[in-house]
Amino acid sequence: MSAMTQNLADKRVLVRVDFNLPLEDGHVQDDTRIRDATETIQRLLQANAKIILLSHISDESNGSNVGSFQPIIPTIEKVLNKKIVFIPSLDSADAVIEMAPAGSIILLDNLRLYPGEEQCDISFAKRLAQLGDFYINEAFSASHRNHASLVHLPRMLPHALGIAFRREITIIDQFLHHGSSPKMAIVGGRKLSTKVYLLKKLITKVDKLALGGGIAGAFLSFFGNTNFSVFEQKDYVEEVINIINTAKSCGCKLIIPVDFSALVSNSDHMDHAIISSDNRCASIFDIGPESVKLFMQHIDESRMVLWNGPVGLFEKTPFNFGTEQLALHIAQATREKRIESIVGGGDTVYAMNRFGVANDITHLSTGGGAFLTYIQDESLPGLSAVLEDETRIF
Ligand code: 3PG
Repeated sequence: MSAMTQNLADKRVLVRVDFNLPLEDGHVQDDTRIRDATETIQRLLQANAKIILLSHISDESNGSNVGSFQPIIPTIEKVLNKKIVFIPSLDSADAVIEMAPAGSIILLDNLRLYPGEEQCDISFAKRLAQLGDFYINEAFSASHRNHASLVHLPRMLPHALGIAFRREITIIDQFLHHGSSPKMAIVGGRKLSTKVYLLKKLITKVDKLALGGGIAGAFLSFFGNTNFSVFEQKDYVEEVINIINTAKSCGCKLIIPVDFSALVSNSDHMDHAIISSDNRCASIFDIGPESVKLFMQHIDESRMVLWNGPVGLFEKTPFNFGTEQLALHIAQATREKRIESIVGGGDTVYAMNRFGVANDITHLSTGGGAFLTYIQDESLPGLSAVLEDETRIF
């Protein structure tokens, strides 16, 4: 234990975590974000601090932000292997924290129950600051948000970055600036609109950029596949031209799929077929086997691979093929130490878990929006706030 953490004995440490976990019918589908925060929490327990966890949870299944942590406390207790003292409302927070002995883990209910959190209200942050003596941000995946607990709190209390947060940015920085070449990025996902800035950044940093999903479609007509008008995302034609030209001038090779897995209309029904680029009646849902081979060859020639966005509709057979084959291949190359792999984004990480390779990837990011924002901007509102006058304790 460092002298710095030792100084936190008996101190109230506010730890902003991101326990916004994927839920289905109220059940936690993936506890990675809790496991990720464990090292920081354990270190604070060893230092005999009083730990007060702050987090939001956005219950997207019912389209609201007002879910409670109450039903998922057993999952948090199981992962942390310790009882949680739960604070259902800020009104009772001071008394509960006062009563709890050092070495307790206390959890305040959903920060988004208070409008001041998302409004980035300074008085709400001041109220939270009264609960602690020290602040730690261990919520990489939420730190792209300009919210009170992320940007105001660190300016009100002595503060530090959490261990997992620093690990996240260190590996992304390494990929962008210092990692071994050749570097490859694979970007998929449905909509080009959400990835334009990511692509613009990556072409200046990688040797090869492979495109899958709906995003690849936007590029096809520029590579001679004129029949893919269905995919031409007209609002982005200029952006696509700009990306292609910049890639050329930066020496970044764009890798575009050469075949697809699709449903093809056949009089009154649809049949699954592998098609090349000349079928007008097809609905495309995945990249085809030749494209998978092509992507794999480039992976094998690379030293670092960063992946964001599935290349097809991987939840539905047979359209899982492209994403699954690439996941298995990247996992194997990583296991054999031929590449270092970084995978980020909610759907892509979910795919790694689904195909059983999550543990083989060098770094699986907890971030979705934060992962994209950090690659694009190399900063996050919640990170900049903590790095100002940080007290390094880990
Ligand atoms: C996430 O799951 O990406 C973070 O927890 C941020 O959640 P939000 O999109 O509801 O702000």
